Amino acid sequence: MIDVTAEGEAAEGEALVGGMMNSGAVVRHGALVERPAPGTARALHAHLLALEEHGFDGAPTPVRLTADGREQLTFIPGDVALPPFPHWVMTETALTSVGDLLRRLHEASASIAVAPRVEWPRSLADPEGGTMLCHNDVCPENVVFRDGRAAALIDFDLAAPGRPLWDVAMTARYWVPLLDPASAAAFCPAGLDVPKRLRILADSYGLSPQERAELPAVIEQATASCRAFVADRVADGDPVYIQALAERDGWQRWDRVQGWLVAHRATLTAALLG
Ligand SMILES: Nc1ncnc2c1ncn2[C@@H]1O[C@H](COP(=O)(O)OP(=O)(O)O)[C@@H](O)[C@H]1O
Ligand SMILES: [Mg+2]
Repeated sequence: MIDVTAEGEAAEGEALVGGMMNSGAVVRHGALVERPAPGTARALHAHLLALEEHGFDGAPTPVRLTADGREQLTFIPGDVALPPFPHWVMTETALTSVGDLLRRLHEASASIAVAPRVEWPRSLADPEGGTMLCHNDVCPENVVFRDGRAAALIDFDLAAPGRPLWDVAMTARYWVPLLDPASAAAFCPAGLDVPKRLRILADSYGLSPQERAELPAVIEQATASCRAFVADRVADGDPVYIQALAERDGWQRWDRVQGWLVAHRATLTAALLG
């Protein structure tokens, strides 16, 4: 049967690109997005509905789970930046809006109890755990912008309980970004002032002095988790991650990034607290 959506697309829909974990499997059908349902989908859908009830309007509305293991959510109109990132996504306005959006997500999440007896993913989760559901994957490909400002977060597949600071650290990794200059040059505009941008993110989120003091070490911890996440996927033979690692200088790049973070810990701390 050929069904036609409001946009006149055929029933097979429009493939949405941008992700790695569900590469090729995320499809838009008009106002809906259909994608593989994560194991936590039931709990996540309840969480997304609770976020709405708490007044948070920056996430998709879950619609249903299908019999063949997929989920449907509302499509959020706007712009999603893909690498190499366009200039607008690395502006200070964009960064400020991401900090503000994450703060609003956390304010709503903090008053929602984490569902018990759910096997939340461990891969990018805060190793120290926590009482709030963190997104854990606030990369540019998972943020929808409108008018140059972050409007919504998508792709909650890696959400898990953790400290809010863990989510800030993960977000900072991508949005500042916390990379050595050679690694950053591969997909960001040149000349970004990293310490200043980390401060902008901390200010727009509203981190406390205590959290600012802790953040550089948590960023190092989060970076190690991301490296382990890639290593697990490569060890499993995942072709998307194997190719991405090869295209990005392999493990040398991770060594460079981690070395840079350690060498700049004091500079980053000074920018956060100064
Ligand atoms: N609800 C949505 N609204 C708007 N765009 C979406 C939505 N869900 C996915 N997309 C688009 O599809 C891309 C891939 O989807 P995503 O769910 O993030 O896949 P993956 O799990 O592979 O990262 C995103 O980067 C975004 O561009
Ligand atoms: Mg994604």
